[in-house]
Amino acid sequence: MKITLLATAAASLALAGFSANALALDVEAARSLADQNNCMQCHGLRKDKDGPSFLKTADRLRGKPNATDEVLKHLTSGKEVKLADGTKEKHTVAKTMPANDVAQLRNLAAFILSIQPK
Ligand code: HEC
Repeated sequence: MKITLLATAAASLALAGFSANALALDVEAARSLADQNNCMQCHGLRKDKDGPSFLKTADRLRGKPNATDEVLKHLTSGKEVKLADGTKEKHTVAKTMPANDVAQLRNLAAFILSIQPK
C-alpha cells in the first residue's frame, strides 16, 4: 500500500515537473540572450548559416531524453567548430547575467529545441 502511494506521488511529481518545464519556456528571454551572445550571427531559426539552423538541431534531438543536455554542452563547452569558410574557432560560451545562470541557459536550450518547421 505504501509502495503504491509512493509510486503515485512520484508519478504526479513527474507530471508536475513536466508541465512546469513546458510552461517555463520564456521565448522573449531566450531570444534576447541569443541576441546578446550574437548566436543569430551564425544560426538562423530555420536557416543554416555558419552553424546549423536551430530547427535542424531541434529535429535531430527532439524527443531524445538527453536533448537539453546535448544543447547545453554546445553553449558551455567552447569546443572548436569549423565555419563555412573553413576557419576554425572556439564556439561561443553563452554569457548570462548573473554569470553561468543555468536556468537561463536551459531556457535558451529549450527554446532551440522548441523550433518547429513552419
Ligand atoms: C561564429 C559563429 C557561431 C556563433 C556566434 C555561435 N555558433 Fe553555435 N555553432 C557554430 C557552428 C559552426 C556549429 C557547428 C559545430 C559542428 O557541427 O561541429 C555550431 C553548433 C551549435 C550547436 C549544435 C548544433 C547541432 O545540431 O549539433 C548549437 C545548439 C549552437 N551552436 C548554439 C549556439 C548558441 C545558442 C549560440 C550563442 C550563445 C551560438 N551557437 C553561437 C557557429 C556559431
